[in-house]
Amino acid sequence: MRKPIIAANWKMHKTAKGAEDFLEQFKPLVVTNKEVDIVLCVPFTLLSTVSQGIKGSLIALGAQNMYPEEKGAFTGEIAPGMLLEFNTKYVIIGHSERREIFGETDEFIKQKVNKALEVGLTPILCVGETLEEREKGFTEAKCRKQIEAVFKGLDKNLAQQIVIAYEPIWAIGTGITASSEDAEETIAYIRKLLAGIFDEVTAEAVRIQYGGSVKPGNIKELMAQPNIDGALVGGASLEPESFAKIVNFKE
Ligand code: 13P
Repeated sequence: MRKPIIAANWKMHKTAKGAEDFLEQFKPLVVTNKEVDIVLCVPFTLLSTVSQGIKGSLIALGAQNMYPEEKGAFTGEIAPGMLLEFNTKYVIIGHSERREIFGETDEFIKQKVNKALEVGLTPILCVGETLEEREKGFTEAKCRKQIEAVFKGLDKNLAQQIVIAYEPIWAIGTGITASSEDAEETIAYIRKLLAGIFDEVTAEAVRIQYGGSVKPGNIKELMAQPNIDGALVGGASLEPESFAKIVNFKE
């Protein structure tokens, strides 16, 4: 059985005060939830505050990016060891905003995933198609390219540690969610791809999230799908009440 994993992606939002206020309200709302892995992927400037704030809770800390080198002349970048210093457990890699706005390639994303695995960080690898690609019927081809770029040639034990987030770009921040059936169909396809690259057992072990306008109102239906193992949540993760409702989807 795959344990559900619900992660907040705060993107470029919140100051330290905002993060403290969030935690004060959020923690009591999820204190009894042991059935779901809860992750907060915060801006680098909040790693320290959130790391302190979640001590003793079941909430895990995540970052939103990292550079695939230990140290060096990489102005403005963050090394994996700098994330580990704050007890960071997860790192989002290859978010569509990084791919589209900052020109990150599949090759670069593969390097980052490998580095994260090497140092013991769990990558949350994002994949997904643009609206144009969906309308042209290229959804599966796009996901295949992005998945194969990272997983082909990888050790299957390492592959199982990766969390995949299927995030159709047209559903991000638009209020338009992929229907739970469409999300399930593409996620089932991604699982089939993994079975082809590795085997059924490996494919069944990998957790695959859906992301794109996830809200308290649609989480139950998404989580009822057999292949959807969680969610990566942007806008609705910024408010403690709405993110708690999403995390507590079983109640
Ligand atoms: P929204 O939930 O705001 O659509 O963002 C999704 C996302 O990009 C999470 O990584």
